[in-house]
Amino acid sequence: MPLVTTKEMFERSMKEHFAIGAFNVNNMEIIQGIVRAAKEENSPVILQVSASARKYAGHNYLMKMVEAAVDEANIPIAIHLDHGPDFETCKECIDGGFTSVMIDGSKYGFEENVALTKKVVDYAHARGVVVEAELGKLAGIEDDVNVSSSDAKFTDPEQAEEFVKRTGCDSLAIAIGTSHGAYKFKGEANLRFDILLKIKEKLQNTPIVLHGASTVIPELVTMCNQYGGNIPGAKGVPDEMLKKAGQLGVSKINVDTDLRLAMTGAIRKVFAENPSEFDPRKYLNPAREAIKETVQHKIRDVFCSSNKA
Ligand code: G3H
Ligand code: 13P
Ligand code: ZN
Repeated sequence: MPLVTTKEMFERSMKEHFAIGAFNVNNMEIIQGIVRAAKEENSPVILQVSASARKYAGHNYLMKMVEAAVDEANIPIAIHLDHGPDFETCKECIDGGFTSVMIDGSKYGFEENVALTKKVVDYAHARGVVVEAELGKLAGIEDDVNVSSSDAKFTDPEQAEEFVKRTGCDSLAIAIGTSHGAYKFKGEANLRFDILLKIKEKLQNTPIVLHGASTVIPELVTMCNQYGGNIPGAKGVPDEMLKKAGQLGVSKINVDTDLRLAMTGAIRKVFAENPSEFDPRKYLNPAREAIKETVQHKIRDVFCSSNKA
């Protein structure tokens, strides 16, 4: 089965009320761990590449590795640009074989976001590629894709309807309280499901995307800290909330932080327990296994996309 766009997987997710995991990739072990988990679960999956991941690994390397994974897996796999910062980057990915791109115009005002998104949509649709856009601002403190908490802004349902109509985007990322990275909530986790429901009411046929949706799995944080890490007080979106989001109409759930924690925890454990080990395969294999287990748990128990391939 060749690479696919997200069109059919999203249609099924909206009809059957489950979500599809979109996992960030930047090397071979991460790609293999994710795709092997999705294959075992017979689930569709989205592999996504941020601009900085693309810079790190190189476009061609990533494409070739993803193609190899697709050959091996025989499940629906989409390759998606995560947080495309500008038209040029989206164009390069569309021309370079991606089946889906995100243009992240959330840093601009409404009109500018509409204009930029529309420009990407026109270019992408003429080439059979789908486009995710973003309206509203996620809070957060890490990475270059984040904004400060004081700048965060929930998505306005009325604006969302107008935005989708005017841009023709295929899916919409919304802000309902999630944020990127390992520190999402100071107190209790809280998502604005009321806003999600209002948006869904207005945009019944538009797949909704949740960024910043890692659970920050406590066991993985503990493992990192136990073996020499220093990630105190990390907190993410609990599994039950993500499951509910999938049932209430979120079609795509983005996960990067949990994969970083899984990989780092597994590698730290090998280093701590075997200080004399220096064969990279001895720590990258457990890292790949940890990614696989993490993704499999999400697909099966949280996103409920097993056997939806
Ligand atoms: O949402 C952002 C992703 O976690 C990618 O982060 O820009 O550090 O690759 P990155
Ligand atoms: P997390 O940092 O919660 O994993 O979010 C990743 C993401 O939204 C990628 O776009
Ligand atoms: Zn994101």
